[in-house]
Amino acid sequence: MDPPEEVRARLERCGQGHLLRFWAELGPEQRRALLAALPPGLGEHCRLAAAARARQRGPPERLDGRMEPLPAELLGSARRSGPAALQRWEAEGLYQISQNKVAVLLLAGGQGTRLGVSYPKGMYNVGLPSGKNLYQIQAERIRKVEQLAGQRHRCKCAIPWYIMTSEFTLGPTEEFFVQHNYFNLDRSNVIMFEQRMLPAVTFDGKAILEEKGKIAMAPDGNGGLYRALVDNKILDDMKQRGIQYVHVYCVDNILVKMADPVFIGFCVSKGADCGAKVVEKAYPTEPVGVVCCVDGVYQVVEYSEISPETAQQQRPEGGLMFSAGNICNHFFTVDFLEIVAQKCEPQLKHHVAIKKVPYIDKEGNLVKPLKPNGIKLEKFVFDVFQFSKNFVAFEVLREEEFSPLKNADTADKDTPTTARQALLAQHYRWALKAGARFVDENGCRIPEKLSLSGTEDPPAVCEISPLVSYFGEGLEVYMKNKDFPSPFVLDETKVEMLENS
Ligand code: UTP
Repeated sequence: MDPPEEVRARLERCGQGHLLRFWAELGPEQRRALLAALPPGLGEHCRLAAAARARQRGPPERLDGRMEPLPAELLGSARRSGPAALQRWEAEGLYQISQNKVAVLLLAGGQGTRLGVSYPKGMYNVGLPSGKNLYQIQAERIRKVEQLAGQRHRCKCAIPWYIMTSEFTLGPTEEFFVQHNYFNLDRSNVIMFEQRMLPAVTFDGKAILEEKGKIAMAPDGNGGLYRALVDNKILDDMKQRGIQYVHVYCVDNILVKMADPVFIGFCVSKGADCGAKVVEKAYPTEPVGVVCCVDGVYQVVEYSEISPETAQQQRPEGGLMFSAGNICNHFFTVDFLEIVAQKCEPQLKHHVAIKKVPYIDKEGNLVKPLKPNGIKLEKFVFDVFQFSKNFVAFEVLREEEFSPLKNADTADKDTPTTARQALLAQHYRWALKAGARFVDENGCRIPEKLSLSGTEDPPAVCEISPLVSYFGEGLEVYMKNKDFPSPFVLDETKVEMLENS
C-alpha cells in the first residue's frame, strides 16, 4: 500500500517527504500510526523552529536601555515587609484556603533530561532519611496547609492539586499515585491532565524520525499549560469547584511552599491578577531570568538579554538593581488564566531548546547523537506577565524556598545532593529555633552551627515531616530543651511518642 497521494504530495511540498522514507518497511499498524501522528501545520512548525534557531545563533537582543526594576510598591518581601504585614497576608491566605478558593497547579510534563532518570522527576528520592520522594513531600505540604487553614477557621477545606503531565510522564505519574494511595489525599482532589507535544526538528528544518514510522516529539514547554487548560477543560473544573486563585509551581523545587498562605494573601490583598515569587540573585552573573519591567510591561529577562554592565548595576541603597530572580513560582487568578488561555496564548513567543535527539539515519540505523542535533520549541509559563493588569512580585529567602533539582550528582549545582542539603539545613534551623539540641552516639552535644552555606551538610541530620510542620511552626512543644540523636526524623509517630513522654 502506498501512502495516500495527497499526503505524500503535502509532505513533499513542505519539505518533509523524508518522513515516508521507510514506508515500504512499515506494517499496516505502523503506517496507520504514522499517518495519524502527522501534526497539522507540520511544515510551518519546522520552518518556525529552524528560523528561531537561526535567530538564536545571532547576537542576542539586548534589552538594557528599556529595562526598569520592579517598583517598590509592587514588591513584597519576606525579609523587609515587617512581621505585622507578613502576619496579615498569612491570615488572608489561610482564610482564602479555608474558603476552598485556592488550588495548586504542578508543572510536571518535563522530560528531566539533565537529571537523566527514565521516570518522572517527581518520583525522585534525593536520599532523605525518610526516603520520601518529591511528590510525597508536596502531597504532605498540601495536607498540612489544609489542616492549618481548617484549624484556624474551624472547618474542613481542600486544596485541589492539578498536575500537568505530558505523554512521557502521565502514565507513570498516575501509576505512582495509585501505588501510594494518592499519599492519603482525597483522590477526587488530584486532577492530572496532559499537555501537547510538538515535533523535534533538525537544524535545517526537518522533522526527526525516532523510529522508522515515528516522529520524535517533545512536550511544548511549561507554557503549554495555557493550551492544556483549554484542551482538558481544567478552567471549567476550577470554576465548578469555586476556585479563584491558583499557585503554579515546578516539580523540582524541593523547598516549594505549596499554596503558601503568605504569598497567596499578599497577592489577594494587592488585588493582583498575576504574581511571581522571586529570590534575590546570588551574584551578578548568575544565569537566572530577572523579573522586571521592559517598556512598561512586566516580563522575565533572560541573562543573555542583559549586558554584564547592567547585570552588575547597583541600587543607591545597595544590592543589585536587577535582582529579582525568577523561580517559576506563580500566582494567577482563574479569571486571568481564562483570558490568557482564551485570547492571549497565541501571542506567547517560542523559545528554542537545543537537545540531543536520537534519530534514524538514511540507512535506517538508530543513532544516539553525542552533540545536540535537534530543536525543540517551547513556550514558557512566565511569558504571560505582559498580559497582567495588576502584577506583583514577592521576594522570598532562597535558603527557605528555592533549591531546584535539575542535574545528576556529577554536576556542581542543583543536584540531588544540593536539594537534600538545602532541605536538611532548613529543618536543622527550624529545630534549633524550636530549642532542640543534638547529641552524638556517645550522648555528647553536637556543637551548633547557625549559618550554613547552601551546599553544606548541617552538623546534625534532622528531617521534619511536612505533616508535622509546614514552615517551622509548632515545633517547640516537641523539641524545646530536648536532646535528639542524629539522624532524627520527626514524623507523626514520633510526635505521638513525644506527646506521651
Ligand atoms: P525544566 O525547564 O527544568 O525542564 O522544567 P525539565 O524537563 O524538568 O528538565 P530538562 O531541561 O529536560 O533537564 C521546569 C519545570 O517545567 C516543567 C518541568 O516538569 C519542571 O517542573 N515542564 C517543562 C513542563 O511541565 N512541561 C514542559 O514541556 C517542560
